[in-house]
Amino acid sequence: MSPIMADLKALPPLEQSTAFAALQTHFESIESLHLRELFAQDSERASKFSAEAAGIYLDYSKNRINETTRQLLLKLAEERGVREAIDAMFSGAQLNLTEGRAVLHTALRANSDETILVDGKNVVDDVHEVLRRMGDFTDRVRSGEHRGFSGKKITTVVNIGIGGSDLGPLMAYEALKSRSDRDIQLRFVSNVDGTDFAEATRDIDIESTLFVICSKTFTTLETLANARLARALVLAKFGEEKSIAAHFVAVSTNQEQVEEFGIDPANMFGFWDWVGGRYSYDSAIGLSLMIAIGRDGFSEMLQGFRSMDQHFRSAPFAENLPVLMALLGIWYNNFFGAESVAVLPYDQSLHRFAAYLQQLDMESNGKSVTRQGESVGVQTGPIIWGEPGTNGQHAFYQLIHQGTKLIPCDFIGFCQSENPLETEGQSMHDLLMANYFAQTEALAFGKTEEEVKAEGTREDLVAHRVFPGNRPTNSLLMDRLTPATLGALVALYEHKVFVQGIIWNVNSFDQWGVELGKVLAKRIIPELSAGSFPGGHDSSTDSLISRYRQHRGLE
Ligand code: F6P
Repeated sequence: MSPIMADLKALPPLEQSTAFAALQTHFESIESLHLRELFAQDSERASKFSAEAAGIYLDYSKNRINETTRQLLLKLAEERGVREAIDAMFSGAQLNLTEGRAVLHTALRANSDETILVDGKNVVDDVHEVLRRMGDFTDRVRSGEHRGFSGKKITTVVNIGIGGSDLGPLMAYEALKSRSDRDIQLRFVSNVDGTDFAEATRDIDIESTLFVICSKTFTTLETLANARLARALVLAKFGEEKSIAAHFVAVSTNQEQVEEFGIDPANMFGFWDWVGGRYSYDSAIGLSLMIAIGRDGFSEMLQGFRSMDQHFRSAPFAENLPVLMALLGIWYNNFFGAESVAVLPYDQSLHRFAAYLQQLDMESNGKSVTRQGESVGVQTGPIIWGEPGTNGQHAFYQLIHQGTKLIPCDFIGFCQSENPLETEGQSMHDLLMANYFAQTEALAFGKTEEEVKAEGTREDLVAHRVFPGNRPTNSLLMDRLTPATLGALVALYEHKVFVQGIIWNVNSFDQWGVELGKVLAKRIIPELSAGSFPGGHDSSTDSLISRYRQHRGLE
């Protein structure tokens, strides 16, 4: 057995698997069936095709499936070894074999009495030790015990990081802002574009600012460039190297590089190579978030992650939310040929959720070779995109309703609002959620030609006003957006991505596809400065660089 398969069942190409072939045959019989018919045939459909766990209710009845589809999809999961893969992941097997690492983000939210061994060491003890240090530091910042160099209380925290070291804390801070300490504001700097740094820092008081430099590797160009700018600001203000300790902390797996940058390891919070960047915001990467929502809020969030982990690990597949959502995604991706998935939170505070999921899903499953390095042969990870409802309704829903592309959608909503405002006695939240329910109804059932005509529509407008319907949606409904429900929601998507990766037989935990651009950029950087430009790229790249140099006065 090749080392890459050491931990998982040997898999034939997906299209050669028995369950996949059965699904292909079944697809041909169900493809033209309309959700109108499926609902008309069975008044119990909503309850038959729904499941609930960790505070999340999933209604997946508005999908183009019947009982046979569900059974065949569940069989596919069994046949592809999803059960064994789940056990392997939770027990610390080296599933990320192209990087020689375990995949253990679930250990970040394990209870302190659990044991998870990596190289014979119980990593849960380390996790809780870091959580304790983060909690103590958080308390000191929030209480004013940890102060800036000149003695001022910290009121601004600037998180500097990119990708997984930015998107998770940013998304979660926005999501949980209503529960944050409003006397401390968080800012985020990620892009190497100077505008990002300049805008985030233009009005801050350096004396009361803490910079949290987040980088798993501590070698990332963007983050180090921004961190150097921050360092220069602090040194310009105080003129003393000693001031760095009061204004900087680092979060990383790379102590050597942190020290080289000039941050004392006493001000560093660590994590481990078995946590992927895009799976890391519940590690020390979430430090700025913890400062905002407090150690108790953070711990409540970890509890939410844990509830979903436990559900994923133990629930039968027929009731298992991440497995069901993964299988539905495969149904549209590999049989209907859908290219993308829209994620549509009906909650303004989840406005960065789709961006967060883009990295989680697309960096994980945007792969075209199997774990053995052969061509996958089928479509893998979809394009993830989305915006909060109702904003999206007034922008791109037109295409989802009447366009030529099939776009499965995840609707995400809450029964209670964190800001229950009323306008002239009318609940704003009801206005918002009425739209959520209406959209899933309209997408599923549409409006027929007969219905349009019956409204007395002018003949030449009838075709334009028909809604074909049969557009699939998942409805996720939770009571309210708490740290715990956010944790459960994120874990749901993490595990969904995992299951899909297992079924496609790709390594969801490496990201070699980001390397080439980084290497080429390093070569180009000096070519954009003074000195002669030797060329040597292709004619397009050469002429773009020359034009840039001309406009910068270098040629
Ligand atoms: O280049 C992609 C990537 O490696 C992501 O996977 C990661 O989240 C991001 O860069 C940032 O990496 P780091 O935390 O090491 O700075």
